[in-house]
Amino acid sequence: MSDTSSSKPPLRLGIAGLGTVGAGVIKIVQRKANLLAARTGRPIEISAVSARNRDKDRGVDISAYAWEDDPVALALRDDVDVLVELMGGADGPAKAATEAALAAGKDVVTANKAMLAIHGNELAAKAEAKGAVLRFEAAVAGGIPVVKALTEGLAGNRITRIAGVMNGTCNYILTRMENEGLTYDEVFDAANALGYLEADPTLDVGGIDAGHKLALLASIGFGTRVAFDDMVLEGIERITIEDINHAADMGYRIKLLGVAQMTGRGLEQRMTPCLVPVKSPLGQLENATNMVVLEGDEVGQVVLRGAGAGEGPTASAVLSDVLDIARGFRISTFGVPATTLDSSTPAVASTPAPHYLRLSLVDKPGVLAKVTAALGDAGVSIDRMRQYGQHDNPDVAPVLIVTDPTSRRAIDEALTVMETSGALAAQPVTIRIEDV
Ligand code: NAP
Ligand code: HSE
Repeated sequence: MSDTSSSKPPLRLGIAGLGTVGAGVIKIVQRKANLLAARTGRPIEISAVSARNRDKDRGVDISAYAWEDDPVALALRDDVDVLVELMGGADGPAKAATEAALAAGKDVVTANKAMLAIHGNELAAKAEAKGAVLRFEAAVAGGIPVVKALTEGLAGNRITRIAGVMNGTCNYILTRMENEGLTYDEVFDAANALGYLEADPTLDVGGIDAGHKLALLASIGFGTRVAFDDMVLEGIERITIEDINHAADMGYRIKLLGVAQMTGRGLEQRMTPCLVPVKSPLGQLENATNMVVLEGDEVGQVVLRGAGAGEGPTASAVLSDVLDIARGFRISTFGVPATTLDSSTPAVASTPAPHYLRLSLVDKPGVLAKVTAALGDAGVSIDRMRQYGQHDNPDVAPVLIVTDPTSRRAIDEALTVMETSGALAAQPVTIRIEDV
């Protein structure tokens, strides 16, 4: 390694949160000090750290750093230039420390999608009012540099659509259930051991964490204020191995898929389980891998794929922001000044798509006719239909239907009619089919 000594002062970090990501960041700063200094022209140093438990073994030596019990005090230390917020949580100490740093004119790097999805508009405005930057590469799709791709690499494009698998935990659970025939609970525990899960795992399996990420990308892509509350959200909790196997039989895999696009009806944002063709790039995603598909009017389609969670990949993304700050590269949080972001109108309905329906019908003459009539009356056309045997309950006739492109509203209308006519023996399952 060549001599990296520099006359420029070091960039001094205060790291709040020493869990999976915080420990990963410290390891990179310690192991790659020369490389980071060579790439930025100044040393990257850690002045102080903060977490809840000072005595916990974090698998990394923190004895050289000052300790603060209070993350706000950490943010305000004279020897901290940049707050690296890696605690998590939309409010509480993460927001308090971020606000304190920004109010003091200090830059903030965070991996906290929950905080930014809820408070991103106001925090970005606070940062810009003080001439500080607030960066969040690690908050979206782990190690994939998707925020950089949107704000920099594709800055000459009008973005037409953003889609992708953005939660490593959900993809890990779905693919291991399918590949290894494991139960949801067995795979859930393995994901936890790998450090993928949020402190509140319902954020992962409920689709909320991935929805936070998509809302942040949509803001950059469409120049709109972060509008997480307008997102159509559905998690993977109700996905059964039965649906995974039926999907596979028909040439599909189930993914928790996000799509954001600006339509003539407003901004469409949804994060829901979808069937995707097994041979498509999204269909081939395994384990905690994420994939983000960006479409621009000049560039066409760009596909980014990589590790969406875990210590190394997420710490790598944190360092990307830290190094930009060290180089003196300063950019608005969402690519344009926060005060110029437009308010978006949420699309009242999703773009039509084929849907998979799994119905458990009462096994009586005429019931299938009621089902096809209900679908026909709602304007839903059937592409494929299959009835299959169910040996454990002879009174129920399971039926699979794939529709032609239609709206979810039309399907729900038909399902309501089926329900009131007594055709359904159990809750139906409806999953959108996307050909991304
Ligand atoms: P984690 O392993 O649970 O670590 C959280 C850290 O924050 C712990 O060190 C904890 O202290 C500290 N902390 C929590 N509450 C605190 C409080 N009230 N005051 C002071 N310190 C507090 O979490 P993580 O997985 O590293 O995630 C950190 C952030 O990165 C979250 O925003 C998460 O969404 C985001 N993220 C995580 C991943 C991933 O793969 N893990 C990927 C992308 C983004 P103690 O250790 O003393 O308990
Ligand atoms: N819990 C998140 C996931 C971490 O599983 O994708 C990365 O954001």
